[in-house]
Amino acid sequence: MKRSSFLKNLGLSGAGLLMAGRTWSVPIHPAVKDAKKLRIGIISDLHHLQFGKPEVTRLKTFMDDVMKVSPDFIIQCGDFCRPKQSEGIMAEWNRFRGPKYHVLGNHDMDVCDKATIMQLWGMEKPYYSFDQGGYHFVVMDRNFLRQEDHTLVDYNNSNWGPLPAPMRSFTDKPQLEWLTQDLAEARYPVIVFMHQPVFLSDFFQEIGNADEILAIFDEANLAAKRAGKNTQVTAVFMGHDHDDRYGERNGVHYFLLNSASYVYTNSGAHYYKDALYAFVTLDPSGWLHIEGRTTTYRDAVPDRVKARFPTSISDHKVMLLAKPRV
Ligand SMILES: [Fe+2]
Repeated sequence: MKRSSFLKNLGLSGAGLLMAGRTWSVPIHPAVKDAKKLRIGIISDLHHLQFGKPEVTRLKTFMDDVMKVSPDFIIQCGDFCRPKQSEGIMAEWNRFRGPKYHVLGNHDMDVCDKATIMQLWGMEKPYYSFDQGGYHFVVMDRNFLRQEDHTLVDYNNSNWGPLPAPMRSFTDKPQLEWLTQDLAEARYPVIVFMHQPVFLSDFFQEIGNADEILAIFDEANLAAKRAGKNTQVTAVFMGHDHDDRYGERNGVHYFLLNSASYVYTNSGAHYYKDALYAFVTLDPSGWLHIEGRTTTYRDAVPDRVKARFPTSISDHKVMLLAKPRV
């Protein structure tokens, strides 16, 4: 949606401010009436300095809304910026004083290694998890390259570029073991963030070992169900494809988040007029509501691009939980 109506819907512009309480009212289960909504600001694939183009202004648009909405945390879903000439990006990002999280994307290692970009962001580990507001959040790193001998190496200084798509976007074994254990020990419903998609992608050749990750989600959810626990993987947010998709697989809701900046096609990069990003609200009764922005292409684009690639992050409202959060 347009930015003005976007903020209005979030209950944060003009008269909308007075409506804030009602705008978001959904039936709350009596047992959870004291539980709070959790709100997340999310942006993906900003691609600062890709094709030499700075994206500070685009990030500022997101951060201006973040400062108004005041979410519980913000997260960028990969392909964010570079280790040098990103002072403006980090200054914008750090305007928000609340918790800020990062996901590693492949282009974040275009001109450096993982440790270098992680240091700029203050990211302690390439994959990690945390609890907040009655949910367990998992951040994954899918940036491993499979070599000829099938061993995996970290993405580093564009090393994946010369290699074919089926060798990219892998997740290493120690991380898969960690994921299995982390999900087994989760005390709350789980929401996952990753850059390269495991589902909904049209880039069928470039999903690495997505099958192993999906199997881990499936098995964790079966075990939770059998144990009568409300700790299933419920939603997964992904970037990378610069596309806008939603789908459900085995009861898990997958969101492919559009790029903040452009779509890349065989006719090159087609930039969006305005920044795309979204706010996600998790209601204690189990609803996930994603509200995203819509824009247009900045310049004229061929009809086949217009027909294929949406310039939006669509709104969705889905029920995550079999039982309310308590
Ligand atoms: Fe990417």
